[in-house]
Amino acid sequence: MTEKMMKRSDYCGKLRAEDAGREVVLTGWVQSNRDHGGLIFIDLRDREGIVQVVFDPTIDADSFAQAEAARSEYVLNVKGTVRRRSEETINPNRATGEIEVVCSKMITLNKSKTPPFFIEDDVNVDENIRLRYRYLDLRRPEMQETLKLRHKVTIAMRKFLDDEGFYEIETPMLCKSSPEGARDYLVPSRVHPGEFYALPQSPQLFKQILMVSGMDRYFQIARCFRDEDLRADRQPEFTQLDMEMSFMTEEEIRDLNERLLQYVFKEAMGRDIQIPFPVMTWKEAMARYGSDKPDLRFGMELIDIADVAAVSEFTTFASVAQKGGWVRGINAKGARFSRRTMDDLKDYVAVYGARGLAYIMVEEEGLKSPIAKFFTEEQLNEICTRMNAEPGDVLMFVAADPEVTADSLGHLRCEVAKRLNLIDPEELNFLWVVDFPMMEMDKEEQRWKAVHHPFTMVKEEDLDILESKPHEARAQAYDCVLNGCELGGGSIRIHRRDIQEKIFKLIGLTEEESREKFGYLMDAFEYGTPPHGGLAFGLDRMVMLMGNKDSIRDVIAFPKTQSASDLMTQAPSGVSIKQLRELHIRPQRKEKEE
Ligand code: AMO
Repeated sequence: MTEKMMKRSDYCGKLRAEDAGREVVLTGWVQSNRDHGGLIFIDLRDREGIVQVVFDPTIDADSFAQAEAARSEYVLNVKGTVRRRSEETINPNRATGEIEVVCSKMITLNKSKTPPFFIEDDVNVDENIRLRYRYLDLRRPEMQETLKLRHKVTIAMRKFLDDEGFYEIETPMLCKSSPEGARDYLVPSRVHPGEFYALPQSPQLFKQILMVSGMDRYFQIARCFRDEDLRADRQPEFTQLDMEMSFMTEEEIRDLNERLLQYVFKEAMGRDIQIPFPVMTWKEAMARYGSDKPDLRFGMELIDIADVAAVSEFTTFASVAQKGGWVRGINAKGARFSRRTMDDLKDYVAVYGARGLAYIMVEEEGLKSPIAKFFTEEQLNEICTRMNAEPGDVLMFVAADPEVTADSLGHLRCEVAKRLNLIDPEELNFLWVVDFPMMEMDKEEQRWKAVHHPFTMVKEEDLDILESKPHEARAQAYDCVLNGCELGGGSIRIHRRDIQEKIFKLIGLTEEESREKFGYLMDAFEYGTPPHGGLAFGLDRMVMLMGNKDSIRDVIAFPKTQSASDLMTQAPSGVSIKQLRELHIRPQRKEKEE
C-alpha cells in the first residue's frame, strides 16, 4: 500500500470494444472476485460502470497474489491491456461486456470491511441501514445515476436562465424569524443574548427586495428549511429553483417557466415535453378532481349527485345535500372490486375525514348495493347515466362538507387508479392551476390565512371584495403540477404598501406586529418598487419525478428520516454546556457534560 498510485487513464465503465489493444490504468472498487482454473476475475467498479479484470499468475505473480486477497469494496489501481472477449464469453447485459482488461500490474490502494449490504441496484435492505451507511448506499449505480441526473438538471437550469438574462444571487441563511407557513428553525445569537436568527423557509422577501433593487431577473438554487411534518415528498431542508422577475405578467412568467421546463427535461433526460401546458382554475380542479394538484393521467372525475341525493330516502346523503354539502362519486371503470376491497377503501377515505364510502356495484344482472334500496329506480337511472355506469363498474360516493368530500374522493381516485394500473409510468402530465383563493380560514386559530403567502397580489377585479369576502377573492397565484404532484408555485406580488397593509390586517397582524416583522419590506415599497412576480420549483420533487422515485430521500445525497434525523452523522445531537452558556441558553436536557 506504500506504492505510488498509477495515474488513471480511463474510467472502468467507459471502456468499449474500440479500446481493444490499448494499455489502460484504472482505479475502482472490487464488485466481485472469482477464481477460475488458475485465473482470477475481478469486476472493478467506478462511477461510470463495471469492467472485468483478469489476473494471470504467469504475467505478474505479485498482482495475482493481491487479487487473490482482494475482497468486496477493496480499492484497486490496475494497469493492463484491453482485450476483446471470445464470442462465448461476451456479456450482452453490460456496456463493457465485449472486452476485459488483462492486468500487468496492480496496487491495492485500500482495504475495506465487509459492507453491510451488496453494492448493487434493487438491494433489499432497510432504508435506515442505507441511510446509516449512506457512503456505501451512494456507491450503488442507481444512486450515482440519480445524483448525475440532479447535476444535469441544475446545470440546465443555470444555462437556460443565464441565456434569459437572469442573475444568480445568493441570499442569507441567517434571517429574521417571521413564521407564516411552517415553523422556523432557529439559531441562537451569541452576540445578542436572547435573540435568534431563523433559517429561511424560502428566499421570498429577499428576492422581492432584489426586484426593488433593480436586479430585474433573479434566480437561486436555494436551500430552504421548514420544521413541518415530513412525508415522502417533504424534507426539513430541501432545495428550490427560486426565481423572481420584474415587469412581467402572470402569463409571461408561466410561458418562461414552460420553456425552462421544456429545456431542462430535454437536456437532462432527453424527453420532449409539449408546451403550452393546459391551464385550469382552482375551482374547476377542486370540483372535477377534488384536488388543487390533480393527476390528469387518468379520468375518473368527481360526479355531482347532490340534487338526486337531496330528494332521496337515504337520509345520510339527503341531509348533507340539503345543508349545502357535497355528495359526489367516482366510477371505477371495470374494477369489479370485492366487498373486502371496498372495506379497505372505506378505511382509506376515513383518513381524509369521510365517515363512510357508499357504493353501487354495476353487474350484468343489475345493481348490487347496500344503498340502492333508498333510491327510486328513476333516481338510480339518473345516477348511472351521469356516471356512465356499465357492467363491471363500481360507483363510490362520499357525502360530507365540500373540503372533506373533495379531499377523500381526490385521494381515492388516485388510489383506485393505482390499483387498476391506469397510470402510464412514462407519462409526464403537466398542468397549471390558477386563480387560487387569496385566503382560507385557519380553523384551529380562527383567522384568515393566505393560501399562497401574504405577499401575493389579488386579482384586480376582486380587489373590492378582498376585505368583505376574502375566501372568494382570487389571487394572482399559479401552481405547476406534474403527475399529481405540486412541482412549483408562485404569484404576482403586491408592490404597493397600502394593499400589503390590508393583507396583513386581514391575516390578523396588528399594525405594530406587521411593522415589527415586515417593516423593512414596507419601507422598501415606498422607494419605487416595480411590479414583479415569480415562482419556485421544488428541485428535489422535480428530480424525484424525473427519476421515477417514490421519495425525495432517494434524490438527496444526505437526507433526513421522517423524524428529521440524519442517521449517518446522528444529527441532531446534544451539545456541551459550554456551548449553551455562550449562547445564553439555560440547559434543560440532553446536554453533554464536558
Ligand atoms: P412554496 O412554499 O409553494 O412556495 O414552495 C415551492 C415549492 O417547493 C417545494 N417544497 C418542498 N419540497 C420538499 N420538501 C418540502 N418541505 C417542501 N416544501 C415546498 C414544492 C413547492 O411547490 N416562496 C414561494 C414561491 C414563490 O411564491 O415564488 C414558496 O416557497 O415543490
